[in-house]
Amino acid sequence: MNTKCLGFLLFFICPAYSDTYSEELFIKPLATGYVYSFFQFTVIREDDSFKHSTLFPHSLGDIIDRFHVAELNVDLTSGLWRHKSWGYPAVDAPSGAEISARFHNDTQDVDKNWYGLTNALSGLLCTSLNFINSANSYESSADRVYRYSNLPRENVCTENLTPWKKLLPCDSTRGLSSLLNSGRVHNANYHSLGIHFRPLCNAGKCKYELRQTVSLVYDSVFISFNNNYDWSLRKMFGTGLFKTCPLADYSKIYLDTSSNSSVPYLISQEPDYILKNNIAVYNLNGIFHLSAIVPRPKIVVSELRPLLYTDRFITGFGQEYGGLVTRIYNDHRSSIIATVIENIPWFLPIYYHTLKVTSNGVRVTPKALIYKPGKGRVRIYYLEVVLELAPRSVTEISVQFDYVFLKWQEYPPDANHGFYIGSAIVKATIPRHATSLTFDNSLIVDNLNSTGSDYLICLKTENFIITLPTPDFSMPYNVICLACTVVALAFGPIHNITTKRLKLTTAKYVPGLASVAQKLYVWLENIFWSKNKNKTGKAAVVKVFVPEELSYHPTLGHVSEEFMKDKMDYIAS
Ligand SMILES: *[C@@H]1O[C@H](CO)[C@@H](O)[C@H](O)[C@H]1NC(C)=O
Ligand SMILES: *[C@@H]1O[C@H](CO)[C@@H](O)[C@H](O)[C@H]1NC(C)=O
Ligand SMILES: *[C@@H]1O[C@H](CO)[C@@H](O)[C@H](O)[C@H]1NC(C)=O
Repeated sequence: MNTKCLGFLLFFICPAYSDTYSEELFIKPLATGYVYSFFQFTVIREDDSFKHSTLFPHSLGDIIDRFHVAELNVDLTSGLWRHKSWGYPAVDAPSGAEISARFHNDTQDVDKNWYGLTNALSGLLCTSLNFINSANSYESSADRVYRYSNLPRENVCTENLTPWKKLLPCDSTRGLSSLLNSGRVHNANYHSLGIHFRPLCNAGKCKYELRQTVSLVYDSVFISFNNNYDWSLRKMFGTGLFKTCPLADYSKIYLDTSSNSSVPYLISQEPDYILKNNIAVYNLNGIFHLSAIVPRPKIVVSELRPLLYTDRFITGFGQEYGGLVTRIYNDHRSSIIATVIENIPWFLPIYYHTLKVTSNGVRVTPKALIYKPGKGRVRIYYLEVVLELAPRSVTEISVQFDYVFLKWQEYPPDANHGFYIGSAIVKATIPRHATSLTFDNSLIVDNLNSTGSDYLICLKTENFIITLPTPDFSMPYNVICLACTVVALAFGPIHNITTKRLKLTTAKYVPGLASVAQKLYVWLENIFWSKNKNKTGKAAVVKVFVPEELSYHPTLGHVSEEFMKDKMDYIAS
């Protein structure tokens, strides 16, 4: 019985099992001037019922219990992890939302539980996981109770971070979680929030582990105001560490100093001890500050490339036929067995006969191939390829696809933005020393210390956007605008014609120079006579003729008798 239970004894009987909680932060300055920080908050529980718990979050425990979840991974990510220059992350997650779950073997209707789980989690984390349906999730070929889905369009924002922090025992008031300020988290070049639940069984006895993780990558030039490569906790997170979480059994910060050999730097604090020659470990108790001074590197040193990395892009032009290419680079000196999983949405129908696998340009046959054709609006195209990657080779998987025309309601509101296509997954076993962090054990410190030989990694490729043929959604708007203009233009004359009375008057019209002269004469007459005459002067007198009084002139038309006489006199003279 530990001290936490003593408080409970006053009120009710201490539960037979207790949870343990630990907080860890792993910081790794990368040679290219970026700083990677990985937070891990771990709760370990021995009881498999989540009804009553002290540290395990109740809301999540209820969901796990209710939907018979055996294993759960949720990652909400913004930004792209650059394997080539950053190495491997602790948790590889594609941009957007990603969720995978394994249910208990005895689950009858796995799909029902899967949709229930995603709906419950979308409420818990304020995400759009409720958009997961059969058309964007897949079940593993080997495992009946496993489901996976990703939503590449998901925007990760403050409203996801706040409920995520609420699941922590100390919320965000104390301990390492107080460093997670939404302003700073979302300013990072890359950020990823994760929830990982799994059982850890050993000789029939199981423990349940919940890890909440945050990965952040900051550009040290961007966060330091002096345009140098210095970094510190305060510069990255906007605040220092003041109090540790009293509920945590374990609070530590690790600093990976392996990049010191290429870009040397000095740190402000002496570590409590050093693990495996290059991991500086700090025990947290009270106020803590850590900063690093980096003399500006004279040459940009690029770190050793990871052993295995990927690239993905589309080929073709126009909006009829396209191709999808996934490249896997193996920089290792021995061959690696890799499994590539492509899950392509139904609106990108692929042609299986065009599937081509080449290694350094030479066509090869995969070791195994599983293909499940998709079905419009119901099922994705699932392609699983097992390959043996030759040493120092580039393997390319390419397949052709069609662009389809969707129903008009299936386009998103900003249809011309394009459609996101989620990442492919590459699973492979690589030597352990090549990875930055492994997860065999619950705590980072145990993983750093472990000495296995090989480790399974799971790489996610980049997402991409394609533009499907899109109808001109602005056409109704244009038609409305045009129709309104026509109506507005027509309204004035029609209103005039229908509301004003028509009256016949003489056409006192004299064409040509004569009319200009006459107007000028009337105008001058007005100016000079108005001084002497009253307001109703000569100019105001208009004589109205009836048609009978008018006579016809071959060129001038209908003119008055009087005018005709003047005209004749003028001609005569
Ligand atoms: C569930 O299935 C896995 C894999 O088939 C097996 O290893 C495990 O023992 C099963 N668990 C139960 C409770 O049946
Ligand atoms: C990096 O190496 C230099 C000497 O090369 C040493 O003085 C410094 O303390 C090292 N920094 C860290 C963080 O280990
Ligand atoms: C790491 O491993 C070494 C050797 O196996 C052991 O002596 C040491 O206590 C371990 N350190 C921790 C923190 O577990």
